Amino acid sequence: MKNIQLNNGLHMPQLGLGVWQSDNGQETINAIHWALEAGYRHVDTAKIYKNEEAVGKALKTASVPREDVWLTTKVWNDDIRAGRTIQATEESLKRLDTDYVDLMLLHWPVDGYETAWRELESLLVDGKVRAIGVSNFMPEHLNDILEHGEIVPAVNQIEYHPYLVQADAISLCDEHKIAITAWSPLMQGNFKDEPLFAKIGEAHGKTAAQVVLRWCLQNDIIVIPKSTNQGRIQQNADLFDFELTEEEMVAIDELERGKRFGPDPRNFDF
Ligand SMILES: NC(=O)c1ccc[n+]([C@@H]2O[C@H](COP(=O)([O-])OP(=O)(O)OC[C@H]3O[C@@H](n4cnc5c(N)ncnc54)[C@H](OP(=O)(O)O)[C@@H]3O)[C@@H](O)[C@H]2O)c1
Repeated sequence: MKNIQLNNGLHMPQLGLGVWQSDNGQETINAIHWALEAGYRHVDTAKIYKNEEAVGKALKTASVPREDVWLTTKVWNDDIRAGRTIQATEESLKRLDTDYVDLMLLHWPVDGYETAWRELESLLVDGKVRAIGVSNFMPEHLNDILEHGEIVPAVNQIEYHPYLVQADAISLCDEHKIAITAWSPLMQGNFKDEPLFAKIGEAHGKTAAQVVLRWCLQNDIIVIPKSTNQGRIQQNADLFDFELTEEEMVAIDELERGKRFGPDPRNFDF
């Protein structure tokens, strides 16, 4: 399993398990245990996924110590708007049954995100979060944080897959050494409609999903594919024994079409 070095010096595992749309019970506990057995050391949740208790239980009962697992959660939009980022973080810690999270993100760039960023900075000093970052921040939002904040975000978590690379956000992040985490790296399952991935996979004895995830890894992107199926959780971790060629990388790059499967950070209403 590979790590990415963040701009604060911490090492973040490049593969994590996403748990959006997993339940707040046994389904999520099993998924996390299977993931840890398969070698994952990183779990991505959020207050709004309503499964932080299950994530906490899974980590408490896992065979891998808590300090060996990178745990990310996110401050929800209502809390950002209400100026309650600190309280929301404390509530997340309680639900997760842990003293700290490795990474706390502002989930979306809603009104109040500059103040929320200052609150996140104070949590960093308190040691309740080891790293702070943002999610769905486009260059105009990032520039606000870079201008008014003291700490540069460690991570920006954005929708990223072969149909959507958001080059403007990525190039600003590269400039400030802000790591990118890809959400919906498997295009929410829609990778199956693109024949090129399976075709490239045949040459390597790999599945279409593994090709898409490997393309992300070779672009130095952190990936958090979601699955609750043991076989697919294992499959999504089996990415480190093959390499896509330059030609294969370019062929996948050429699929870019600005197509989103999730909401647009410049036009959303929640
Ligand atoms: N920051 C944000 O605003 C934001 C937004 C969206 C998502 N996220 C994060 O990103 C994570 C991943 O994104 P996502 O859940 O939207 O979608 P995704 O990971 O792109 O795709 C998940 C879908 O693909 C299926 N799948 C997974 N592995 C597969 C495989 N090897 N072969 C075939 N199908 C496979 C899953 O079904 P099964 O479960 O049945 O395998 C599920 O339906 C989320 O869980 C969440 O942690 C963040």
